[in-house]
Amino acid sequence: MSEVTLTAAFSTVPAGDQEAFKRVIVETVDQLAREEGSFKRAKLVFTESDERCALTAELDGVKREGVPLQIEIDQLEDAQSSAGARAQLKEALRLYFRRVRDCLFRVPDGVQPPKAGSRFFCRHLSVRPGDRVLEIGAGLGLAAVLAAKAGAAVVATDVVPGAVTAVRANAALNGVEVDARLGDCYAPVTGERFDLVCSNPPQMPTPPGADREDAQAAADNGGPDGWALLDRIIAGAPAHLVSRGRLVFTIFDFLGIKTALAKVEAAGLAPSVLARETQRIAHLRAMDQEAALPSGRPATVERLMIEGRAR
Ligand SMILES: C[S@@+](CC[C@H](N)C(=O)[O-])C[C@H]1O[C@@H](n2cnc3c(N)ncnc32)[C@H](O)[C@@H]1O
Repeated sequence: MSEVTLTAAFSTVPAGDQEAFKRVIVETVDQLAREEGSFKRAKLVFTESDERCALTAELDGVKREGVPLQIEIDQLEDAQSSAGARAQLKEALRLYFRRVRDCLFRVPDGVQPPKAGSRFFCRHLSVRPGDRVLEIGAGLGLAAVLAAKAGAAVVATDVVPGAVTAVRANAALNGVEVDARLGDCYAPVTGERFDLVCSNPPQMPTPPGADREDAQAAADNGGPDGWALLDRIIAGAPAHLVSRGRLVFTIFDFLGIKTALAKVEAAGLAPSVLARETQRIAHLRAMDQEAALPSGRPATVERLMIEGRAR
């Protein structure tokens, strides 16, 4: 016996089709649970936005971190009437459940371990098999490896040599290839274009004169106003995206969401907010080695994921 629950949010699918889509997902996952016997309870979250569908799962109470599974609307339509399409959907779900379950990462000395922001970034980063993906500031390669596991061709850059080595090691550990390159921002990918450029960049405002050269500072410090790297990532994105390609990055709300959207728009990309999450500030205080955050309230901060789509 399996127990499958699904929370779904739709934006463009007509009300009449929504129930049918939910039913086909639940039935397919239920069938998988009975056939594979590897989980008993599946709690699924499905979102459709502008005809793009993403699914995340919690199996037997364990949240699966990772890149959400991309599902096509056509796939869900066909799976209602065609056994072949239903089998394909089941295979995609089977691989997704296996993929998110089997990741293993090593955190070498000198490279920042994944924080709440890294997990938020990975949870909302959607890639499709075959996508050419660039991650700027890959750290130990969490997002880069998950994207490669989802079938993307990934280039991951970082300015810290130990991070580049860690990305390569973590890719090998997980049986995928990631093209890890050392260098600043877009310098390692001059003249190259991608379907997705993504980054969870350093963005803590750093008091003047307090900047440092070490790996911890590289991971956190965003220059005097927090925008030092982000501005360059946004400005350089159009020259590194294919037509309809996407720039995706995380941002703290205290840097200014309207400002972020305006900067994306000014770069010629269509901006939108993909996701937001409230994070406890205790975590940020642990990162805030230069005491840039004001003391006392607030106890939480909002982290957002912003997308800019090339027109
Ligand atoms: C907040 S950490 C994020 C790491 C990883 N992507 C994650 O989400 O866990 C930011 C990363 O950007 C790297 N970085 C800092 N400045 C950079 C630059 N100018 N170009 C490329 N990477 C940079 C840091 O070394 C660090 O690994």
